[in-house]
Amino acid sequence: MTDALARPTSLLILGGTSDIAVATVRALNSPVLRRVVLAARPSERRDAVVAALTGSGMRGVEVVDFDAADTATHQALLDSVFAQGDIDYVLLAFGVLGDQTDFEDNPDHAVEAATVNYVGAVSTALRVATLLKTQGHGGLVVFSSVAGERARKSNFVYGSTKAGLDSLANGLADSLHGTGVSVLIVRPGFVHTSMTSHLPAAPLSATAEQVAQGVVSGLRRGATVVYVPAALRVVMSGLRHVPRAVFRRLPI
Ligand SMILES: NC(=O)c1ccc[n+]([C@@H]2O[C@H](COP(=O)([O-])OP(=O)(O)OC[C@H]3O[C@@H](n4cnc5c(N)ncnc54)[C@H](OP(=O)(O)O)[C@@H]3O)[C@@H](O)[C@H]2O)c1
Repeated sequence: MTDALARPTSLLILGGTSDIAVATVRALNSPVLRRVVLAARPSERRDAVVAALTGSGMRGVEVVDFDAADTATHQALLDSVFAQGDIDYVLLAFGVLGDQTDFEDNPDHAVEAATVNYVGAVSTALRVATLLKTQGHGGLVVFSSVAGERARKSNFVYGSTKAGLDSLANGLADSLHGTGVSVLIVRPGFVHTSMTSHLPAAPLSATAEQVAQGVVSGLRRGATVVYVPAALRVVMSGLRHVPRAVFRRLPI
């Protein structure tokens, strides 16, 4: 169970090598954290994350093999993690950005991205919600994106997967209200991580550590949606209402 400061004793990270997720795990670390389950595909990157977290003194770091696209494996994997002890927060952090031009040239690649970002999220979030309800407490942290708020022509495939994810998380948040289980939807803008390292930074860009602080503060105050940086809430509110004829011409 989390304590009065919303500090968790246990975490499950779906997409355990994500830079944002790893920064969030570090930000949620405290003397009460005893178990950190990293669910991720086997890779040198995963080994490096385990070594870094363990090397920094974090206790109870475990690894389980997880492929977001392999939905047939999700129930057994999640059952096994929860059978070994309660989980306070589950971070849904996996995702692929891809490339819009490639998606348009190779629709199969767009389907693969949609399968990871949306289908994988449907498969895991619904199963996690049931497991959290059964244990009677806990929270799901969903890494959405401002890209899902209004699809831009320069990355509308990725944006559409995040729109679906965001909508799923919103509905889940409302359906779980009153059950003791919460959902926190995180909407970052451009974040400097492995996902974006090949791209020029966009305005109002953030670091993974800033997103992590947004998560910690959102969990402490029981928020349902946080924007990182917070100013993006206002920007996106305006952008949503820009007339289509103008929106089409924007260099975004
Ligand atoms: N960076 C940004 O600007 C930004 C902005 C808004 C939202 N977000 C969202 O934040 C989340 C974390 O992104 P990040 O910036 O931390 O990027 P990242 O470091 O590239 O992390 C992406 C994660 O997704 C995992 N993943 C990809 N395909 C997978 C699959 N089939 N099965 C399991 N895991 C898979 C990767 O695992 P592997 O190590 O196995 O590849 C990696 O752990 C993503 O959902 C992203 O869409 C990012």
